[in-house]
Amino acid sequence: MSLARLVQRRLIIVTGKGGVGKTTLTAALARHYAESRRRVLAAEIVPTAETPSQLAIALGVRGLTEEPQRIAPNLSAVLVTPTAGHHRFLQASLPIKLLADTAMRSQALRKFLSAAPGFSDMGVMYRMLDLLRLPNPAGGHAYEIVLLDSPATGHALALAQIPEFLIRVIPAGPIRRVAEEGLAVLTDPRITGTLIVTLPELLPVTEALELQEGLTKHRLPVSAIVVNRVPNDPFSKEERAAVSEVLSAQGGLVLGARELRRIERAQAALAVLRERATADHVVLSEVEGAGSHATLALLPAL
Ligand SMILES: Nc1ncnc2c1ncn2[C@@H]1O[C@H](COP(=O)(O)OP(=O)(O)OP(=O)(O)O)[C@@H](O)[C@H]1O
Ligand SMILES: [Mg+2]
Repeated sequence: MSLARLVQRRLIIVTGKGGVGKTTLTAALARHYAESRRRVLAAEIVPTAETPSQLAIALGVRGLTEEPQRIAPNLSAVLVTPTAGHHRFLQASLPIKLLADTAMRSQALRKFLSAAPGFSDMGVMYRMLDLLRLPNPAGGHAYEIVLLDSPATGHALALAQIPEFLIRVIPAGPIRRVAEEGLAVLTDPRITGTLIVTLPELLPVTEALELQEGLTKHRLPVSAIVVNRVPNDPFSKEERAAVSEVLSAQGGLVLGARELRRIERAQAALAVLRERATADHVVLSEVEGAGSHATLALLPAL
C-alpha cells in the first residue's frame, strides 16, 4: 500500500531525529492529499512565530504565520507556537476575552509560560486541538487532514507524556480537560497516526526502533517507519557482490566505492528494520534537489 494511503488519518504527526526529512515529507504528503482533493493543513511546530519556517521553504512559499494561510487549492499551512495555544486557552477559559489579550501582552507571563517545558507543550497541544476543531462553513471540519511537523524526537513523546502527567496531578478544571481531550485524540488510532522518519543507516534505524517503542508505550499509534533517502541500487545482489570484489581489489579508492558501501549499509539497516519493526515500514529514495524541489520530487513515491 502507498505511504499516503497507509497513514491517512485526521492528525498525522511526523517525527524523528534531526535532519532526516520530516519537513520535506510533511510538505510532500500535504501536497499529495491536497491534490487528491482533501482539505489539508500543514502545521509546523516552532518555538516562536519569528523562527524561520523550514516548512515554508519545503512548500515553496515565502513565510508562514500563526494563522492558517491558504497556499494552494485545498492546502493551507500554519505555524504552531506555544504562545498561540496559551492565548487561545486563556480566551476560552477566562470569563472576559479581553483579559486573555491583556494577560498575553505581559512579557513576564509569556516568558514564564514558554520557559516551563510542560506549559510549552500544553500550548502546542491546545493549538493543535483548536486547529483540528475549526469548522468548515459548508459543514464538517475546516481541515480534513492536519499534518504536524514536529521539531525533534522528544516532541511527539512529550505531547503524550505531558497530558498523562497532568491528568495524574490535576484533579479537575480547564487544564485537566485539555489534557484529557488531547490524550484522547492522540491515542485514538482512528484519528491519529505518527510517522517515524529515519535514514538508512544502522544507528538512525536503531533510534527509530527505540522511538517506536516509546510511542507505543505511551499509546501513540505508529502508522509507519519511513526510511528516507535510500540510495538507488542499480545492482542485483550478485552484481553488487561482483562489483564489490572488483572495487576492493583496487583498494576501494575508485569512484563509486563509497556509494557502493552506502548501498550496502542501507541494505543492512533495512534488514534490521524488517526483523525488528512492529509497525509497517516504507522506503523513500534519495531524490535530486533541495527545499521545495525535493518535496515535489518525492510526490510520485507517495
Ligand atoms: N528523499 C530525499 N532525497 C534527497 N534529499 C532529501 C530527501 N528528503 C529530505 N531531503 C533533504 O534533506 C535535508 C533535510 O530535510 P528536512 O529539512 O526535511 O529534515 P528535517 O527532519 O525536517 O530536519 P530538522 O530536524 O532540522 O527539522 C533538506 O535539505 C532536504 O531537502
Ligand atoms: Mg524540519
